[in-house]
Amino acid sequence: MGILDKHKVLEKNATLLLALSFAVVTVGGIVEIAPLFYLENTIEDVEGMRPYTPLELTGRDIYIREGCYVCHSQMIRPMRDEVERYGHYSLAAESKYDHPFQWGSKRTGPDLARVGGRYSDEWHVDHLRDPQSVVPESVMPKYGYLENTLIDGEYIQDIMSTHAFVGVPYSDEMLSEAQADFAAQADPDSDWDGLVERYGDKVQVRNFDGRPGVSEMDALIAYLQMLGTLVDFSTFTPDASR
Ligand code: HEC
Repeated sequence: MGILDKHKVLEKNATLLLALSFAVVTVGGIVEIAPLFYLENTIEDVEGMRPYTPLELTGRDIYIREGCYVCHSQMIRPMRDEVERYGHYSLAAESKYDHPFQWGSKRTGPDLARVGGRYSDEWHVDHLRDPQSVVPESVMPKYGYLENTLIDGEYIQDIMSTHAFVGVPYSDEMLSEAQADFAAQADPDSDWDGLVERYGDKVQVRNFDGRPGVSEMDALIAYLQMLGTLVDFSTFTPDASR
């Protein structure tokens, strides 16, 4: 009996078709759902991960508001061509504080999961103002207006409280100092010891857009420059015991 004949039997017997369809859907369902019960074990803790600083979190919100995710993913897949181009494949832990995550499968532009430190701040300013001035064939829109909007982190404490509510480990001190930390990160002349104490010495304190005041451009570049820089992959070894 050929495979098509066997299928004919199935198609002619409604009960059998129903029973076997049910079996297929059940197996598929279990395969999708079962791993969720073990979520605690599948996301391993990775050294170096910390919540976003107030300025980075603001930059991330601007990234989402401007729809950068429409063209950029933040998920390096464990395949050779991706790893050679973008660096170590993305770990679940690297987006554990992301609400919402920025993985994505649509790439009009390159993946940005590890773009931090790849270019200078000046490059980012030039590129955001006019992408075609640095990459002539680029189809990326211009975002120069971001440097004209000055921001003071007025709502950042509330936003961070909301993140804390859904599980991001912001301490009471991080929340109460949110607005001060926001301003300090973009001003190297300020007293930013507290910021580094709270978020670790990998925090980058600079005047990102090179202009006076904290602009949306500062926040966005602060965010881009930290992407993928928290985990040290020269010492990282996947936890094989899981
Ligand atoms: C219409 C699609 C599109 C949108 C929207 C877009 N980009 Fe791009 N982006 C690109 C393309 C294409 C490139 C590659 C050419 C280039 O460098 O300009 C790129 C490159 C980049 C790069 C350099 C990456 C690398 O590794 O070389 C950065 C950083 C970047 N974009 C950030 C952003 C940010 C931030 C936003 C939102 C404010 C944004 N992009 C919005 C299409 C887009």
